[in-house]
Amino acid sequence: MSEQRQTVRGLQEVVAADTRLSFVDGANGKLYYRGYDIDELAGRASYAETVYLLWYGELPDAQELERFRAELVGNMQLPTQVVELLRLSPPNANPMVVLRTALSALGMFDPDGGRNTEEANDRKAKRILAQVACIVASLHRIRSGAPLLSPDPRSGFAWNFLYIFRGRQPDELEQRVIDSLLMLHADHGLAASTFAGRVVVSTQAGMHSAISASLASLKGPLHGGANRAVMEMLEEIEHPEHVEEYIESMLSAGERIMGFGHRIYKTEDPRSVHLRKYSEELCARGELRCYLDLSHRIEKIVRERKGIRPNVDFYSATVQRALGIPKEYYTCIFAVARCAGWIAHCMEQFADNRLIRPTSNYIGGFGRAFVPIEER
Ligand code: SDX
Repeated sequence: MSEQRQTVRGLQEVVAADTRLSFVDGANGKLYYRGYDIDELAGRASYAETVYLLWYGELPDAQELERFRAELVGNMQLPTQVVELLRLSPPNANPMVVLRTALSALGMFDPDGGRNTEEANDRKAKRILAQVACIVASLHRIRSGAPLLSPDPRSGFAWNFLYIFRGRQPDELEQRVIDSLLMLHADHGLAASTFAGRVVVSTQAGMHSAISASLASLKGPLHGGANRAVMEMLEEIEHPEHVEEYIESMLSAGERIMGFGHRIYKTEDPRSVHLRKYSEELCARGELRCYLDLSHRIEKIVRERKGIRPNVDFYSATVQRALGIPKEYYTCIFAVARCAGWIAHCMEQFADNRLIRPTSNYIGGFGRAFVPIEER
């Protein structure tokens, strides 16, 4: 009979891989990409530099960055069939569902679709990262009844993403913020969506299959879907004087406050520190001051009542609102950013692969006799 071993629910604290890509120091509230504390990178390294660092292990020099940036921006275009698929998608379909579907379709048109060599994966990596951004931007433009835009070949990847998404060029503050917003979301150890992608790669399925799995996982409200729920909460509460009653009623109902808590961080999520600062910079100058006051009040009440702190999703909501991104796209923006990490983990898994196949405790029965259907 099957030997019973201790099941680890949610694989909490189980080490499933060695990685050089990122380290989440939960006790001290620190996050490292390839040895760099994100506090070193925030506001200084562009998203494209961070992608390069994650994929190739070093920050690029000026020439390497220019070549990499140009290649990413040059890949910000979609096969006409995929654009058509976006146009045919149901107007009220969740953008994450459309993104997952369109990314899967992209795999059919990719010239390296069936190959997993290092060179083919490198070409696919740049296309997938750029085309995921392009899918999100194009979907929003189509749903807004606006024309699709082409990137400015002279500008940066993050700048171009916000431009082709919004149809308005980012100003200096917005450029700094979108670069950091994407950088701060770029990787985060074996988060559920990242682990999902590594499992797919471990069977030697291709990068499109892996990223499709990661997108499917990120959509969940316990993972990447929380940022949209945060904005919905802010809109529902509306006034700071309603915060205490609202939070109390959620906690009494045993509900989770979206944007708070973390499986690993037992102090503040270091990404939240930067996003709070950007939220304050962006919201202080416009009619979004109310969201900032609400956010500060919620943070205070939740900490007093539950001793838990904001995670990456809490202030990401007001930052994205201030950048003019509709809340239904918040998780897609998370996906655009995290594509860098997902792809880096695919590369790492391909480079030193072993099929990921855990075991389970069988708790069913044995020795049951078959009963023909006419006797059941
Ligand atoms: C991300 O893995 C990653 O790295 C993910 C991520 C990334 O970059 O990839 O960091 C991104 O997914 C951030 C998390 C976004 N999700 C949310 O904001 C949803 C709300 N958060 C919770 O659902 C929760 O905090 C989790 C899922 C994030 C973590 O939950 P755990 O580790 O499974 O913790 P738990 O649910 O066992 O809670 C432990 C205690 C409980 O108290 P008791 O019931 O034991 O008294 O903390 C409480 C919980 O009640 N708690 C919360 C809470 N989170 C934990 N109580 C109220 N609201 C919350 N948000």
